[in-house]
Amino acid sequence: MKKLLLLHGPNLNLLGERETPIYGARTLAEIDQAAASQSDAAGVKLTSLQSNSESDLINVIHQAKKDDVSMIVFNPAAFTHTSVALRDALLAAELPFIEVHLSNPASREPFRHHSFFSDIAIGVVSGFGARSYQLAVQAAIGWLDSDSTSE
Ligand code: DQA
Repeated sequence: MKKLLLLHGPNLNLLGERETPIYGARTLAEIDQAAASQSDAAGVKLTSLQSNSESDLINVIHQAKKDDVSMIVFNPAAFTHTSVALRDALLAAELPFIEVHLSNPASREPFRHHSFFSDIAIGVVSGFGARSYQLAVQAAIGWLDSDSTSE
């Protein structure tokens, strides 16, 4: 069974109460639950994790490589715009990943326009609220499926 890791960066533990006009009313638990059901139905094992700590996220990415995770769906949150260290962790782990955002950072403040991840991601989904995750998990499942048929 292929393993998919759903990784959430800082402040996303506050979804459902944090800046709801931008990030929506769905909680992180609801988003994780929907992603787990979606993955279960496709025969993919999903693990979800949120951390406010850059160092924890780096360690989780290193561990994902050791645990034979096939792909990561990652919302780096504010680290999107700041973290060379997380970018390097993904490059070191050589794990394919999809970058996901609830909002569309390109339509927001200029400091959100640059991502340290987009150019090394398989793809980016942003701007659809909680549905961004649903679309990203669907894309990941499809990518894993085509990956296994080309083996
Ligand atoms: C975010 C966008 C980031 O700019 C912001 O710092 C977040 C959330 C999103 O999902 O829209 O925390 O990644």
